[in-house]
Amino acid sequence: LGGLSKKAYELQELRGTIAEPQLTLDAGGLLFDGPEIAAGNAEQKKITAEGIVAAYNLMGYEAVGVAPNDLAAGPDYLLDLQKKSRFHWLSANIVDADDTPLFTPYLIFKLPGTTCAVIGITGNEMAEKLEGNSEFKLASWQRMLPPLVATLSKRSDFIILLSSLGSQENIKVAEGMPAIRLIVEANGGPGNKPPAQVNQTLITNTFRQGKFLGALKIDWQPTGRWRMQDLGPMLQDERAALDRIDWQIRRMKAGGDAEKRFRDEPKMLAAYRRLQEERTKQQQKVSALEQQQLAEKENKSASTFKASFYPMEKSLPDQPEILALVAGIKDKIAAAGKSKAAAKATDGVALPGGDPGDKGYVGWQRCAGCHAAITEAWRKTRHAGAYDSLADKGQQFDQHCLACHVTGVIRGDEPYILTLPEDLMQVGCEACHGPGRAHAENSATPMPQRPEQAVCSRCHTAEQDDNFVYQAKIKLVH
Ligand code: HEC
Ligand code: HEC
Ligand code: HEC
Ligand code: HEC
Repeated sequence: LGGLSKKAYELQELRGTIAEPQLTLDAGGLLFDGPEIAAGNAEQKKITAEGIVAAYNLMGYEAVGVAPNDLAAGPDYLLDLQKKSRFHWLSANIVDADDTPLFTPYLIFKLPGTTCAVIGITGNEMAEKLEGNSEFKLASWQRMLPPLVATLSKRSDFIILLSSLGSQENIKVAEGMPAIRLIVEANGGPGNKPPAQVNQTLITNTFRQGKFLGALKIDWQPTGRWRMQDLGPMLQDERAALDRIDWQIRRMKAGGDAEKRFRDEPKMLAAYRRLQEERTKQQQKVSALEQQQLAEKENKSASTFKASFYPMEKSLPDQPEILALVAGIKDKIAAAGKSKAAAKATDGVALPGGDPGDKGYVGWQRCAGCHAAITEAWRKTRHAGAYDSLADKGQQFDQHCLACHVTGVIRGDEPYILTLPEDLMQVGCEACHGPGRAHAENSATPMPQRPEQAVCSRCHTAEQDDNFVYQAKIKLVH
């Protein structure tokens, strides 16, 4: 949620600078952070999802692909959300028993000078989840896409695919269907992916989790093909391969005429001849590339593009409307958490360390009795006030936030997360050293002395803390 008001601001700025017709698209994977949501915090997650849709409405998105994560609360839920979305959720391969798509499969945009078709395709992770569901299923792209692309290539000049397939599969799609000019991938990695050309298709995506806004400016020519990208690096590789072969040949020739020298060594002779053949082939490859490079330089009629990626930095201004919207969502989440906490408190839910499913947490005050100096040092660290930081922001009822700001909780859907006892409401000793009941009752029971880096990285993830250096930071824990 955090970045939405920045994204809206950046989008507004960007649109202001562009005179050409524009489409605002997202390949999907917006609503949930995994393909499943646990019942324990479904309510809060759905409030968040609805908030994201409201923000996308305001930002004026035209279409969003349906990615597996968007279906985490089930297809019915997303179909219901479609009614609240002013943009279309696109998927050509989530279909009912008669192969009729459940969502809009594609849209056609008549832009001045170009007709552009946008198709959505949903990644395979969903197939299993929908298995056994008699009302709808995930059809393979191999079956659904080719006929659709064939039809749409007659009705449009430019086809865009919003895809949550894996990268390898997207390459196959591009190889098989050159009429798709652009594939935008939903599964962003730990970096932006500038458009890579596969035959006549560009494949691109942005950094995961909406950390960047990607803009692609396209100058589409009637020739209907992209200018080949810089062949320089490829040419360099092929030339290097040629050099390696030459070097091997020179070595074999070093002792004089190889044909004569190896007359009585058939294996060597065969190897030598094979090298000569390889050299001829490699030389041809290099020449062909050189010619192609020359031709591309002179080709003025090919289509071109320019990609830019804008980081959603904290220093960007907030778009006020979205900022207000997000504040409203946070309040709703807090209210939902609060009422749940109140209900749970009287339900007598088992706390960690309570009897049922005893995980054996005792809280930092028990440790203090025997480790006074360490406890004093820890109390001065930010871990000791981690829950208070949430409370300061009014987000102490948000289960997603709580998971990393308290002790004895791993995922955020534990039933007791909203009703922890006071001395687990911070990142306490046991968040790092593990549950301490056995050790506190008998100090001969060992505790891990130095928690490994993996313990820290559960909370100090790349998203939350991108400059976490374990060796340096363990000196600061107490
Ligand atoms: C009853 C007293 C007592 C309590 C309560 C207690 N400890 Fe200890 N702890 C000890 C003693 C004594 C040792 C040293 C054991 C040894 O060296 O054999 C120890 C050792 C440790 C060690 C390992 C230190 C090392 O050098 O190997 C850690 C870590 C630790 N305690 C953490 C905790 C935590 C966390 C808690 C609270 C959950 C806790 N202790 C509660 C008495 C206690
Ligand atoms: C349960 C989640 C959790 C675990 C596990 C955890 N941290 Fe933290 N850490 C936090 C939170 C949350 C904050 C920020 C607290 C605040 O300011 O409200 C924080 C802050 C810090 C800070 C102060 C800010 C900074 O970056 O300098 C240090 C240092 C730190 N952690 C080190 C560690 C180390 C080292 C480990 C592992 C041995 C670790 N943490 C394990 C959640 C965790
Ligand atoms: C995956 C674990 C994780 C989650 C989830 C998480 N935090 Fe944190 N939070 C951290 C860590 C680690 C730090 C310390 C990193 C640092 O200081 O750079 C931190 C620091 C903070 C701080 C103090 C530093 C600052 O930036 O002002 C606040 C406030 C905070 N988090 C609020 C929240 C809120 C609100 C949420 C939910 C929307 C949340 N956190 C969700 C791990 C998490
Ligand atoms: C953020 C994670 C974290 C928290 C919270 C934490 N520890 Fe530790 N603890 C560590 C790490 C890491 C080491 C090893 C430090 C080193 O090797 O430099 C350690 C070492 C220890 C040791 C053995 C070494 C020593 O310094 O004597 C004891 C005992 C201990 N901790 C007790 C506690 C107690 C008690 C608390 C709560 C008051 C606590 N720890 C809270 C991470 C943590």
